[in-house]
Order: sequence, then structure tokens, then C-alpha cells
Amino acid sequence: MERSTSIALVIAIIFIQLVLFAAAYSFQNCIENPANRSSFNCINRRQTNISALVQDLPGRATSLNISHNYVSHIPPRSMSHLWHLKNLRIDCNRLKKVSTHAFLNLTQLKMLNLSSNNIETIEPLAFIDLQNLTELVLSKNSLQNVQPQVFWDLEKLQILNFRINSLSNFSEIVESVAHLQGLKELDLCDNHLDSLHHSLSLPPSLSTLHICKNHLYTLECNSTFLNRIRLLDLSNNLKLQTDSFIGLDLRAISYLRLRSTSVSALALLKLSNVKPGYVDYSGLTLNSSAKLMRLCSLLRKRLKKLHKLTLQGNNILTLSDGTFKDCPVVTLTLDLSRNHLKNTTCLRFMRGQNHLESIILEHNLLCHIETCHDKQKMSFPNLTSLSFRYNRIRDVYPFAFSQTPRLTTLKLNINNIAYLDRKALKGLTHLTTLRLDNNLLTDLFESTFSDLSQLKTLNLRNNRISVIFNGTFHSLSLLHILDLGGNKITHFEHGAFGGLYSLANLYLDGNYLRQIDSCQFWRLGATLQVLDLKGNFIRYLKRYTQSPFVNLTQLKDLKLNGQLPHGMILLPNAFFRGLQNLTSLYLGNNKISSLQSDIFEDLASLEFLSLDDNYDGVKQLQAGVFKNQRKPKRLNAENMGIRSLSAEVFGNLTELRMLTLPKNALQTVDEALLKNLSKLHYLDLRLNPISCTCPNRWLKNWTSRNHQVQLVYHYDLMCGDVHGAHFYNFDTKVCYLDLGIYLFASTSTLIILLSTIPLLYVKLYWKLKYSYYVFRSWFSEHWRRLREKEEECQYDAFISYNSADEKWVLEQLLPNLEGGGSSSFRLCLHHRDFVPGRGIVDNIVAAVYGGRKTVCVVSQHYLNSEWCSLEIQLASYRLFQEFRDVLLLVFLEPIPERQLSAYHRMRKVMLKKTYLQWPGNDCTDPEKAQELFWNQLRRALRSANDSHQVEDEGEKEGEGECFSNPRPVDDETCYLKP
Ligand SMILES: *[C@@H]1O[C@H](CO)[C@@H](O)[C@H](O)[C@H]1NC(C)=O
Ligand SMILES: *[C@@H]1O[C@H](CO)[C@@H](O)[C@H](O)[C@H]1NC(C)=O
Ligand SMILES: *[C@@H]1O[C@H](CO)[C@@H](O)[C@H](O)[C@H]1NC(C)=O
Repeated sequence: MERSTSIALVIAIIFIQLVLFAAAYSFQNCIENPANRSSFNCINRRQTNISALVQDLPGRATSLNISHNYVSHIPPRSMSHLWHLKNLRIDCNRLKKVSTHAFLNLTQLKMLNLSSNNIETIEPLAFIDLQNLTELVLSKNSLQNVQPQVFWDLEKLQILNFRINSLSNFSEIVESVAHLQGLKELDLCDNHLDSLHHSLSLPPSLSTLHICKNHLYTLECNSTFLNRIRLLDLSNNLKLQTDSFIGLDLRAISYLRLRSTSVSALALLKLSNVKPGYVDYSGLTLNSSAKLMRLCSLLRKRLKKLHKLTLQGNNILTLSDGTFKDCPVVTLTLDLSRNHLKNTTCLRFMRGQNHLESIILEHNLLCHIETCHDKQKMSFPNLTSLSFRYNRIRDVYPFAFSQTPRLTTLKLNINNIAYLDRKALKGLTHLTTLRLDNNLLTDLFESTFSDLSQLKTLNLRNNRISVIFNGTFHSLSLLHILDLGGNKITHFEHGAFGGLYSLANLYLDGNYLRQIDSCQFWRLGATLQVLDLKGNFIRYLKRYTQSPFVNLTQLKDLKLNGQLPHGMILLPNAFFRGLQNLTSLYLGNNKISSLQSDIFEDLASLEFLSLDDNYDGVKQLQAGVFKNQRKPKRLNAENMGIRSLSAEVFGNLTELRMLTLPKNALQTVDEALLKNLSKLHYLDLRLNPISCTCPNRWLKNWTSRNHQVQLVYHYDLMCGDVHGAHFYNFDTKVCYLDLGIYLFASTSTLIILLSTIPLLYVKLYWKLKYSYYVFRSWFSEHWRRLREKEEECQYDAFISYNSADEKWVLEQLLPNLEGGGSSSFRLCLHHRDFVPGRGIVDNIVAAVYGGRKTVCVVSQHYLNSEWCSLEIQLASYRLFQEFRDVLLLVFLEPIPERQLSAYHRMRKVMLKKTYLQWPGNDCTDPEKAQELFWNQLRRALRSANDSHQVEDEGEKEGEGECFSNPRPVDDETCYLKP
């Protein structure tokens, strides 16, 4: 019965645990995207078996990425339970072939990426069921052939990518795709095709055809074969001849790419019906102004207007004045990137092309941008975008852009600009974006940006600026984004940010700032939303300093992570005061040694906090450190050395959705915590030494049964305390079993004790008590000695009496029994003969066993005394158990029978044998009666101890009524009748 109750109890406990927690779930090899719960990433798992990767994914998955694994084979139906999949990436694996029925049941799939494998063969029924597939990527494989039927089911296919394979038979490819009525794009770049010989036609829907980087020398196709193609890329077919285009209908082309072929642009325009405005003239060795002018006049004959003239990679060294003046009007873009131009010559080569909107001069050899005089002003009134990226520009001279005053975007980034004249940007009053990043600028002057009143984005990242002077940005009242990251800024002058009335994003990361104070930022308070101070040298030595952010009430995003060289270490008190709108705070990698419990108190709007990589610092987060944080949805505390995850610390983060805690020292997780975090759905505990002991058994159950919280890679979690064991394997049954046994043992013992103790008490109290003493003594040396002494019988009698009756004993009993003569007895009295220093019980035992007889002097007091009871019990034990009649009862006063009934053992003695009644002084002849009494007593003391003799003797002793009276005396009667 006890057993079943304890089992019930255990079951109840388990049940309560199940009900109380929203449990976690996890996937063997995948992480569910916390932002999109139907998207799964299973990358970098070193898995060879695709089933192991996907078997435990739920059917609701729509997006799956299993790239960067070692999968070499996709067995039939291996993903058929994932029939809601829309995107599937299996790139960067070791697939050798795509086998039959590999994607069975994936009828919803739209995108399949199989690139970067070693696929050599695709079996005929490999793609069966993929009738909704729109994009198939097979790039970077080892395909040499494509079977005509493989794409049979892909009715909706729009994009097919074969880039970087070893295909050589174009006709075969066309055959395999000819039926695909929706195909729009076919990429065959980087294969081994040498002609476009074909037997079937391309699907009429096909508009984009990439055949770059093959071995084409001729096209060999029907004249109408390409007549629906709009984008045709034939670049990097080094041997491709102009003749190949003879007779080919290219009217539909809107972009023809021919760079690095042997095609002659001029000849092509003559013999082909391609629209000249849509040819990309890059890489066609149009390397001199003369050739370009010839091209222009040719174009001019056929066109009035040109959107875009692309002349990349033509090895152009210089361009003479007015090179493009005979071209049709170029309205949009002139692209001269990747040539060898050394000088912009104030864009004089563009003279006459004043409708142009954009000029691109990237990847040239420009060394400086020279002064352009005012007479050329307004020569390009519509030019809004100019890019000089990737040149070698060192100097930008005054008035360098005066001929392009309408510029809105100027890209001077990725050059060697060390000298930017104070007047270089004069006149650019329309400029909104200025890129000066990745140069060698050291100084910015007050006048440098003074005309740029419309500027919205200024990027000065990665220069060598060390000081920002007063008023540098004073005219930039519309500036929205200022990027000063990656410079050598050590400080700002007091009014450095003056005039930046609209600044929202300020990037100061990667500088040499040692301190920040509120004066620097207070002008920005009304607008600044993003402040990046990552990777500076900010460090505080005092706890008490004014918050540098006190004015930044609009700030939403603050990065302070990774301060050099050793981190911030200390966060001053009330450091974040004023940041009441901050939503994201990055404090990672700072070795912050402790976080005061009120440090985040002012951040009432915080939604994201990153404290990662503070390993050498914070070991213990203080209770209440997040007490004001009701809003955080994401907390990143990776690699912080956190030892415990307790409700006191994290319990207030009730809105938390994502908790990222890898690489900590967590051994246990507080059960109460996860109850508090009711909205949590992503918990990352990877690389923590979670302990596989019973205190964590709830975690084990929680992780295995629940559907709210994803515990990332739960199956990889190792036991911190058992080398090589997995947490998910740890057997919690042991814990419950222990509990059960414990409960069973304790309850049953309790019940047995409760039911037996009263019984024992009633039945065996004295026996047990005696046995206990005997047992105790038996082990001791005493006992042995006692036995020896007993044989000698140290005393004739041990007198057991209550101290209240001492007077009688001393005045009456002692003189009468010890009084000398032949009838003298050796008596043992406790007050006199007990060995001092020995336990009283031992003394009593010794006395009872040391005397031949034990005389109990019974009175009211005696009956009430504990020790006396023990003495009489011991003596009666000898009487009943050892059959040694040692007991003599002497009643000092009449005891009523009802009173005696409580001492049933004594009654038993009285019933069994006779006793003596002290006559007192009330009888008619007290002296005679007392005389008789002493005689009787002496005789009894002298008698032998054997009980049968006692009985005999009892019968003989019939001399007085008292002695033969088997009943205890009544109150009024004396044993001698008058
Ligand atoms: C295949 O997809 C259907 C729904 O189209 C689904 O009911 C079935 O369970 C899937 N088969 C397997 C083996 O999962
Ligand atoms: C500049 O562009 C506008 C349209 O944006 C056009 O109306 C105007 O004629 C162009 N100016 C020149 C000089 O081409
Ligand atoms: C910024 O702080 C200064 C004092 O430090 C104060 O005078 C000013 O009003 C504050 N501005 C804003 C926008 O809070």
C-alpha cells in the first residue's frame, strides 16, 4: 500500500512538471530560424547522411538549407515528409549524382540549389514531382552530359543554371530544355561548348542566355535560333569570330555582351541586325580615340539616342577632347571602367555629350583630379553621378568638379587621396552622397564641405583623420549619415559636430577615442539614432562620471563593443542615463568586470542587448541587473563565463524571445527561470558544461517534450561532468527511481514505527528498556566485572528505596540489619555505596546484580520514582527470567490496590510471592509487630535465591496473617490483627 502511494506521488510530480512548463524542442542537425519559424538551417554539420539531417524536421518547413555538409547521395524519398518546402539548398556537399526519386513529394518546391557538388550524372527521374520548381541551380559541378528527359517534370522552370560544369554538347542541352515552356534564363557560362549546333529550338519564353567562357569559335545555329533572346552573353569566348553572326536574327537583343572575343564591333554593326544601342562595347579593343570616333559615327548613322555606352576593358590610355561628340546623344551612362586612363582632363573627352547623367571611371589609373575652370561650368548640366572608385587618385585640386555642378553622387572612394583641397568640392551644392572612404585623408577643414548644403551621406571611413576641428561639418545641416569609422581620431574639438542638425547615424568605430563626454554629443541629442563607438580605446577608471549620453534621448542603437586594448572593464554608475529610447545595445568583448545591478536601469526601451565575449570579465550577473528591462526580446550573452542562469537575474525579462548563451560555464538552469520567460522560443546553450545529474532532470524532460522553445542543437549538448556523454542521453529514470525508493522507504518505516511503537510501549517497555541496559553493559567491561562480582555477592542485599524514605531506612532498617552480631548483613545503599562517577543505571545494575537480594522499600514516593521502578524491574526480571528469587518487597505504608494496578509488574510479584508490611506505630503493639517484622526480614534475606525454594518457603511462612495474605493490604488493616 505504501509502495503504491509513493508511486502515485512520483507520477503526480512528473505530471505537474509536464503541465507547468512549456517544453523545448530541438533538431538533431538543424536550427529553426527564430525570425521565420518555417525556415531551417542545417549547415556545416559534417553530415554524410541526408536523412540524419532532415528526418526530424517538421512538415511545415518551407525553407531548408543543408549546404556545407558531406552528403554524397540523396536516397529516394529522403525528404518526402517535407512537402511544404519551397526553397532547398544542398550546395557545397559531395553529391556525385542526383538519383531517381530524390525529391519525391516536394511538389511545392520553387528553388533548388545543387551547386558546388561533384554531380556527374542526373538520373532520368531525379526531379520527378518538382512540377512547381522555378529555379534550378546546378552550377559548379562535373556535369558532362544532360539526359534529354531529366527536366521533364519541371513544367514551371524559369531559371536553369549550369555555370561551371563540363558540358560540351549544346544540342543535348537544348533538347533537355526545349519543352520547358516557362524557361526564361539559361546559364551555360564556363563549360566546354564549342558551338551552338542544335537540333531542337529553344523554348520561346527563353530571353536570357549566358554562354560566356566557353570555347565557342562559331555559333552554327539557325538564323532564327536566337530571335527571341533579349540578353545574350557571349563574352570570354576568345576565338569567337564576327562572321559567326552572319545571317543571325538578333533583333530582339537588348543587351549583347561580347567582351574578350575576337569579334570586331565595327564589322558586327555592319553585318548584323542587332540594335547598336544594346551592344556592350566592352573588351573589344576599342582602345583609341580614333576607333571610338569611328564607332560613334557608325552608331550615329543608325541611332539618334543612346541610353548607355559601355566601354569597359578596352585598354584605353587617353581620350582626346570631344572623342564622343559624334556619338548619338548618350542620355544615361557612359562607362569607361577598367581602362588605363591616367587623367580625367576635366571630362573634356565628353564635350558635346551634355545630356549625360552618369559617368563611371572606376578601375583606371587616374592619379589626380585637376582644377577645372569656370568656363567649362555647366558643360554637363544633367550629370548627377560620377564615380572614380578604384583609381590611384592622390590629389584632388581646387574646383575639381566645377564643370559638374549638379552632381548628387560623387564616389571618390578606394583611392589614395591624401590631399583634398579645401576648395576641391566647391560648387557641389546639389551633392547628396559623397564617398571619400578608403583614402589617406588626414585633415578636414572648415571649408572642405562648406558648399555641400544638401549632403545627406558623408562617408570618410578608413582614412587617417586624427582630429575633427570645430565647424568642420557646420554647413551640413541635412547630413543624415556621417561615417568616420576606421580613422585615427583621438578627439573632437568642442564644436566638432556643430551644424549637424539632421544627423541620425554617426559611426566612430575603430578610432582612437579614449573618452567620450556629453559635451561632444549634446548638439546631436535631438536627432541621433545610431552611434557606433565600437573598437575605440574608451575606458573608465572611476565609477562616478557623468553619463556621456545624457542628451541622446533619441538614440536607438549604441555600439560600445570591443574597446581596445583590453576592453572597457568598468562601466561607471548611471552610464546609460538619458538613453530612454535605446533599443539595441552592444557591449560585447569588453572584459567588463562587473555590472552594477542598476546599470541598465535607464534603458527602459531596450529590446536587444549583446554582452557576448566578456569572458574574462563578468562571471556573475547580479540579481536584478535586468529588473527594469521589460522589453528585451533578444539577449546575447555568448562566452561570458556565466555559471548560473537564475530567475533572480533573468527572471524579469518576460518579453524575451531569444536567449543566446553558448560557450558559458552553465551547469544547471533554473527551473523557475524558464517559467518566467513565457515568450521565449529560442534558447542557445551550446558548448556549456551542462551537468547530467538529477538537478537537471527537469531540463532533460523539458527539452524533450515541448513545443515552444527551440533549444539549439540539444543533441550536441555534452554532459559537463561525464566525459563524452550526451545530455539528451542521460537517464533521468534513475532520479525518479531514487525518489520513489526514498519515499517508499521513509513512508513505510514511518508507518511501521507508528503502529508498533505504542504496542511495544504497552507490551514490552520494561523488557526492552532492561534489554537495552543489559545489552549496553554486556559489551562493556563492566558487565564482565559485574558477573564476576555477582558470584562473590558483594552485598547481602541491595536496598532500593526512595530518598523520601531515607529516614526510615537509616533509623530503622540499618540498625536492625547491619547492627552487628551474627545477624548482621552487608547492605548496599545507593547514597552510600554507589560508585561515584559511574552512570546511575550502571550503578543500579551493579547493585541489583551485586546483591543476593534486592529489598524494595515500597511507599507512595517509591512508586512515583523512575529509578525505583527500574530497580524493581531489574530485580523482578531476575525473578521471572533468571528464576533467581532476589526480590523482597517491604511496604512502608498501605498502598491501595487500585493504585498498585498501575504497576502491574509489581502486582504480579505480589501475587506470586509474599511481601512484608511495615507495622508502623498505629498497630496495637507496635514493638512486638516490628520485632516480628525484622525477624521475618532477616530470615528472608538469609534464604537461598532459587525461585522454587522461594515458593516452598512462601508456603512455609505462614506465621502471621500478613505473610500468608495473598492479597495486598487494605488501607486500614495491619498485617497483624490485634
Ligand atoms: C506527401 O505529401 C502529401 C501531401 O501532398 C502528404 O499527405 C504525405 O504525407 C506526403 N508523404 C510522405 C511520405 O510524407
Ligand atoms: C536635363 O534633363 C531634363 C530631364 O531630367 C531635361 O528636360 C533637360 O532637357 C536635360 N538637359 C539637358 C541640357 O539635356
Ligand atoms: C543637452 O544638455 C545640455 C546640458 O548638458 C542642455 O542644456 C540641453 O538642453 C540638452 N539638450 C537636449 C536636447 O536635451
